[in-house]
This record gives sequence, C-alpha cells and structure tokens, in this order.
Amino acid sequence: MLLIEAKDYNDMSRKAANIISAQVIMKPHAVLGLATGSTPVGAYKQLVEWYNKGDLDFANVTSVNLDEYKGLSPENDQSYRYFMNTNLFNHVNINKESTFVPNGLEPDSEKACAAYNEIIRSVGGIDLQLLGLGNNGHIGFNEPGAAFEKETHCVDLTESTIQANKRFFEKVEDVPTQAYTMGIKNIMQARKVLLIVSGEGKAEILDKVLYGPVTPQVPASILQLHNDLTVVADEAAMSVIK
Ligand code: F6R
Repeated sequence: MLLIEAKDYNDMSRKAANIISAQVIMKPHAVLGLATGSTPVGAYKQLVEWYNKGDLDFANVTSVNLDEYKGLSPENDQSYRYFMNTNLFNHVNINKESTFVPNGLEPDSEKACAAYNEIIRSVGGIDLQLLGLGNNGHIGFNEPGAAFEKETHCVDLTESTIQANKRFFEKVEDVPTQAYTMGIKNIMQARKVLLIVSGEGKAEILDKVLYGPVTPQVPASILQLHNDLTVVADEAAMSVIK
C-alpha cells in the first residue's frame, strides 16, 4: 500500500487528480472506475481544469461507475448518472457512450446486475478504481456485513442511509430504498485502486480500514489485500493513524 498524506481537501483532490491523469496519459484507452459522493468532487473539478488547459484527453477513456439508485432515471438530479454528467462527463471530451453506470431504470435486479458485470468484463476490466469511504467503512454500497465474493448486486439501503439522504429529496418517500452496486469482488479485480479520504469524521474508520483486521464488518478493510492500493488522505483523516 502507498499511503500519501495531503494537507487538506484541496491538496487531496489535486493529488488524486494527478494519479488519475497519470493513468490516462500512460494508457489513453484506460478504463476508469469512478465514484460519486462529496469526496471526489474536487478531483473531478481539477481534471476538468486540466482538460480545459489542454493537458488531458478523455477521447478514448471508458468509465464504469460503482453504483446507482434503483428506480431513478438519468435525468433525476439525485441519480448518480446525473452526478457524473454534471461533475465530469459534460465538461470533458469523453464519449458518453463509453461511460457506464448501472441501469437504475431496470426493475429486474438480476438482469441489471448481470448486464453490468458483463459490461465490466467486456471493457476488459478496470485499470484504476477510484473509491470514497463511507463513515461505516462501506465502499460502493457494500455495507458492513457484505460478502467479499459478490459481484454487482442489488442492496436494500439501511434506514440510516435513507435518513441521511432524505435531505436531497422533497419527502422521505422519494428516497430510493434500493441500489445497484459493484460488489467487493469487482472492486478487488481492478488493477489499481485509489482510495481518497478527507476530514476528521473519517479518521477513526480509516485507521480500522488500513490497520485493523480484514473483516466484512469493515468492508474497505479488504483493500489491505489488494496488491496495488494507493490511499490519499488529508491530515484530518489521518489524525488517528498518527
Ligand atoms: C459513491 C459511493 C460511496 C461513497 C461513500 C463516501 O459512489 O459508492 O461509497 O464513496 O459513501 O461518500 P462521501 O464522499 O460523500 O463521504
């Protein structure tokens, strides 16, 4: 594992964007595994800036996202497809047809998940998987207790996740109750993994993830067994480790 300490959120974002850029420059046909949430927003901004300067070319890049709410359309501003379009894809020259997010509108979970696994296989697997870290150690929507051997699957969102997300919706009934997520197995098969972590709120869990026992109770702890893991964490997120 390579653990890189960043000063703050901006520094973490720049360092993460540098690592993603290096991947795209070294392999213009790279397959990037991407994440949503607040942690990667700064890195995506930085990538857009470098693209605008002419330093980056996404023309041949393929992307596969970690997860999507079941039941939300790409036009819904809470869908992860919408997030990716507005934070990154609309601002760079990536071919939208080479960007993949699980199909939230497919009601048949088995079909949606099998199709997504097939997409990941057909693009040749993931070169670099970007991950944020949940407060409880989740990655993607793989919550504590998730089986390490699973590929893409449908999860029931926990009541606490539904409560945490309701602020983004008009009423709590509008919050999706299920999501499609890559499984730990898909994530572990990525050739490189880049975990980015910011803020004091994640300090305790980051320590457990990197130095605690490898256990499904802390899903991200499995990353200790990945042979090309880079972690970029800011000082606040590293405060328990040191
Ligand atoms: C996002 C995802 C989640 C987030 C995690 C951290 O696609 O799969 O696992 O990475 O919940 O979220 P933030 O970055 O908002 O703290």
